[in-house]
Amino acid sequence: MRLPSYPNVVTSGEILTRYEPTYAVPVFTDEPRLPAAKSFGGALREVCERVVAEGEFKGEDGASFALRAGVGGPRGAARLLLVGLGSRGDFDERVLRRAAATAVREARAARARALHFIMPDADGGAAFARAAVEGALLGLYENGFYQTEEEDAGRLEDLIVVTERGMPAEEITRARVVAESVNWARALADTPGAGLPPREFARVAAEMAAEFGLKVESLGAEEIGRRGMGGLAGVGQGSDEEPALIVVRYEPDEILDDEELWAFVGKGITFDTGGISIKHGLDMYEMKTDMAGGAAALGALRAIAQLKPARRVAAVVPAAENMPSGRAIKPGDIVRTLAGYTIEVVDTDAEGRLVLTDGIAYAKQLGATRIVDLATLTGSIVVALGTHRTGLFSNDDAWAGQVERAAARAGEPVWRMPVSDDYKKRIESPIADFKNYGGKPDASAAALLLSKFAGDTPWAHLDIAGTSWLDDPEPHAPKGSTGVGVRTLVELVCEDSKQ
Ligand code: BES
Ligand code: MN
Ligand code: ZN
Repeated sequence: MRLPSYPNVVTSGEILTRYEPTYAVPVFTDEPRLPAAKSFGGALREVCERVVAEGEFKGEDGASFALRAGVGGPRGAARLLLVGLGSRGDFDERVLRRAAATAVREARAARARALHFIMPDADGGAAFARAAVEGALLGLYENGFYQTEEEDAGRLEDLIVVTERGMPAEEITRARVVAESVNWARALADTPGAGLPPREFARVAAEMAAEFGLKVESLGAEEIGRRGMGGLAGVGQGSDEEPALIVVRYEPDEILDDEELWAFVGKGITFDTGGISIKHGLDMYEMKTDMAGGAAALGALRAIAQLKPARRVAAVVPAAENMPSGRAIKPGDIVRTLAGYTIEVVDTDAEGRLVLTDGIAYAKQLGATRIVDLATLTGSIVVALGTHRTGLFSNDDAWAGQVERAAARAGEPVWRMPVSDDYKKRIESPIADFKNYGGKPDASAAALLLSKFAGDTPWAHLDIAGTSWLDDPEPHAPKGSTGVGVRTLVELVCEDSKQ
């Protein structure tokens, strides 16, 4: 994997960049179209006003327009990049994040070294400033790791966020830490199956943990078998690559007066062929991202280790490769899980819930008092919610509300879906405690099975099958992994621990 080289990020007034500046100017479709900022005035503003007034650039969300101003800058020909924000009524952090991402991508493609991003006028204070920096650094992500790097690949050295009020250094740090951790998770999820089998996934997690002072307590195949994690062992048994249970923990420096431990359990299927119930069709290659939930859980810990909230947190990632082979688990086989329940494996392609039952049970053994699991779990959630809403399932309304609000603040919206015994026929087996598939598209049945393993522990399940992967490239991001979940989890932990 290859991570972007990140620019220095400062707010206006802090440094004078030694590079020729490019100015990114946000434009609304309705009045006032341009930012009022005093620092953005004179001849440059006049050029922008003309372009906008003449209708050359309308300011639609996602659009951008590059020009040489003919004025401004050391050589009297500053580069301008107008970025569309859409209408003022629809403006929010999400729009700003995307606009900032579009701006840095365009600027980098044009070989700019320094970008002045003029903040639009809108009441949002620190949240908007953070969104702009986050968006910009997320926008720098590329996933062409296997493409030979161009010698003169654009490299942005300085990003200057121009705001009238300035921006607190903590906000810049937070935005940077979060965005870099999202990009780290994306890079893992974008790595092909061959590049990241379970043990390599565990090694990369351990390397990250060592860098940021997190504890690693991962388990290998033998230990997984010895402890009775039959779900994880069963899914992994068909592959030449051994499964792993990746466990990374964050312990705050201060002594806490509560016994809370929040566990983030992430599905870590490093490649999902479906197993003996093999998948067909051209999209199987996307299943290299079937560990996006695990990457997000670990990415969140990567950020949390740097932001240091007063809350114990663990990431638990059951990792396996789901392959057909002479040793593979067969439809009809029954596994005994760590929690003691048996599950009839009706379909080997419903493997995510098998590994997650063991992940959730293990989190509870560690003493988890609250659980969030993240998983690219079902095709049916993609049908139901598409790619713009993650499915949220929970056994606890208060916890679900907390997760939902964190997700909304993070700009990763979720939609609550039902999980209840109304769906229990789909998971009842005549010969085992449960079955893993009830014959129909089944986001809610899958969630119900997981809920049986969460038991009374407040639990929220995020089905990210639709939101973890961008199908077509967009101005703000390449086709591929989105890193969804990292921002939600960081927001959940960091905002809560402040109260
Ligand atoms: N990893 C897939 C779910 C998935 C589908 C993720 C599309 C991302 C995009 C999961 O393991 C799976 O195969 N689910 C099946 C289960 C079914 C065969 C019981 C599904 O939902 O179709
Ligand atoms: Mn599957
Ligand atoms: Zn899967």
